[in-house]
Amino acid sequence: MIKIAVMGYGVVGSGTVEVFYKNHSNISAKIGDDIDIKYILDLRDFDDSPYKDKFIKDFGLILNDPEISVVAEVIGGLNPAYNFVKSLLEAGKSVVTSNKELVAEKGAELLQIAREKNVNFFFEASVGGGIPIIRPLHHCLSANEIDEIAGILNGTTNFILTKMINDGMEFDDALALAQKLGYAERDPSADVDGHDACRKICILASLSFGKHIYPEKVHTEGITKITLQDVQYCSSFGGAVKLIGWAKKIDDKAAVMVCPAFISNESQLASVNDVFNAILVRGDATGDVVFYGKGAGKLPTASAVVSDIIMAAKMRDNSKSLYWNSSEDEFTVDHSTLYNKFYLRLICKNKEKVLSIAEEMWGKLKILHREGEEDNEAAFITDKINEEKFKEDCRIISGDAEIKGVIRVLDY
Ligand code: HSE
Repeated sequence: MIKIAVMGYGVVGSGTVEVFYKNHSNISAKIGDDIDIKYILDLRDFDDSPYKDKFIKDFGLILNDPEISVVAEVIGGLNPAYNFVKSLLEAGKSVVTSNKELVAEKGAELLQIAREKNVNFFFEASVGGGIPIIRPLHHCLSANEIDEIAGILNGTTNFILTKMINDGMEFDDALALAQKLGYAERDPSADVDGHDACRKICILASLSFGKHIYPEKVHTEGITKITLQDVQYCSSFGGAVKLIGWAKKIDDKAAVMVCPAFISNESQLASVNDVFNAILVRGDATGDVVFYGKGAGKLPTASAVVSDIIMAAKMRDNSKSLYWNSSEDEFTVDHSTLYNKFYLRLICKNKEKVLSIAEEMWGKLKILHREGEEDNEAAFITDKINEEKFKEDCRIISGDAEIKGVIRVLDY
């Protein structure tokens, strides 16, 4: 009999216990041994729960119980999750987690401990909810050099943008609806400012490139400045505005960014709507492979946690954890050295003059139009331009026009 513990009984934790018992006999059969949850750790009381006898408040009971070989950490956040997970791995227990903040910040260190202790540290649920991405990237695509990854990694912002695009809803109203439907994080800034997507692309990039990419090194922009006017111009361009987390290998370094972007309707990412996520992986042998599905929610995320429990239980005498190294500061390319195309929307003092300055600085412009555009409004897409130079050029043009919108145009 394999005994496990679940730490945290919030949305993902309760989903994990639900999926575990719903499919209990199949799960035991897949492992080839009986498995049961011995403890559920949570500071709250759940007196009406059918599992009320399993609830404990003392982490030490799990840490010091030699019967417990696998622990699911679904508390979220860095504290106390980091100390708990580190102690468990050091004590020789395998850990599975849905905690993207923990993996994005401390992944290299925890993977190193797992390797030393010959136990496993799995985190399939940390990116893409129920979409299998971590294990396929590590196993099924391992023959490839991964050149590039681009993903819609946050369901809440994709829901908000979809409502703006399809229903003409203002940003604030769409956010309020996302919160009402329970999609947004407790603090919506983690979603709308791009931090959640940043943690996820850091995990995917670390796994693909073999070195830890730290979130604070990644240029991250959210979607709070996107307006309905920008969305309309994007439609006229033949695309959709999406929050994209992307990572690209450039020589022996990694360029990583999170930003809203114009994505052409020809891209597979453009038609990914509502809370769905999609991750495009560009391998040197496979070409593009796209993973699509529900990137958030109780049961899809629990599905990934329970699958990791099954894998850890099957492999409990054998560490086969994926692995990446810690990295020096210079591994991540400074975003100001990159080249991108940009969409700009301006309110001009003199439209002709502004367009002529713009064309001088940014090459032949692709002029965009929308229904009901102001007479003094100009919107266009530049050629590829260095990010630092573009920022300086924007300072110059702002003498003749008020810049209302700036969004990158990405080719995926
Ligand atoms: N708030 C996250 C999202 C939850 O909207 O994608 C899943 O990580």
